[in-house]
Amino acid sequence: MDARTVAEHWERNAETWTKYSRAGHDRYRDALNTPAFLAMLPDVNGLDGLDLGCGEGTNTRAVAARGARMSGLDIAPTFLAHARATEAEDPRGIDYVLGDGLTLPFADASFDFVTAFMSMMDMSDQQGVLKDVQRVLRPGGFLQFSILHPCFVPPRRRNIRDASGAPVAVEIADYFRETDGEVETWLFSSIPEDERRQQTPFAIPRFHRTLTSWVAMIVTAGLVIEAFGEPMASEEVAAAEPIVADTRVAPIFLHVRARKPRS
Ligand SMILES: C[S@@+](CC[C@H](N)C(=O)[O-])C[C@H]1O[C@@H](n2cnc3c(N)ncnc32)[C@H](O)[C@@H]1O
Repeated sequence: MDARTVAEHWERNAETWTKYSRAGHDRYRDALNTPAFLAMLPDVNGLDGLDLGCGEGTNTRAVAARGARMSGLDIAPTFLAHARATEAEDPRGIDYVLGDGLTLPFADASFDFVTAFMSMMDMSDQQGVLKDVQRVLRPGGFLQFSILHPCFVPPRRRNIRDASGAPVAVEIADYFRETDGEVETWLFSSIPEDERRQQTPFAIPRFHRTLTSWVAMIVTAGLVIEAFGEPMASEEVAAAEPIVADTRVAPIFLHVRARKPRS
């Protein structure tokens, strides 16, 4: 599947995604994934940053709140319209740009760092994206990204629960079957059932790669891996947000930080 078709899917998802994620239904993002990502992020105060696949911009704003001068790039115009509207209401100095991660519309060495929150597994040519990220990074700059964990969320995954409904194990399959835009359909699970019935589910083209492929692509792009993160909900967070309790059995997200060498 090419980037244009991916963009059409995301454009159709954007209105519902923005509405429900801003209403707090992206529980994994808010309760676990973004806090863990920000905890792993180096000090970005005063740095120039790009948020790749920024969506409606909530995470871009969280990075800007740490003192970075941010640009946000996304392929879906409706996401950018929402991001820009929020920026106009409550400015954080973020410049939102419509574009494709494969052909970033920025000069070489434009940024001290690039973030990509849960967007790179949705891009059609991750090797090309990583090469272009390397190009726009300044020497010594870093990329930090989060993706669905390749090992524990391959194309087939099912939570195994005990009699009380608590997650106790995970069944996975098809780990080695790399996908080319296989469309997954779902909605945030905390949306009430009567509302869910009235919504068209998200249709998300996915480009699953094994962990071996991810490491090879990062290294081939000329980046040096320096940190991995596998967020796990604490007992307190899992009790308060039972949806994320399955991350105590096995991780759902993988965070990677990789750096462009200085020379
Ligand atoms: C799961 S959403 C994540 C959005 C946001 N980063 C967040 O954490 O809420 C994936 C995003 O990647 C964007 N995307 C997919 N392919 C892209 C591409 N080739 N270039 C730029 N953005 C892309 C989609 O439009 C969508 O906004």
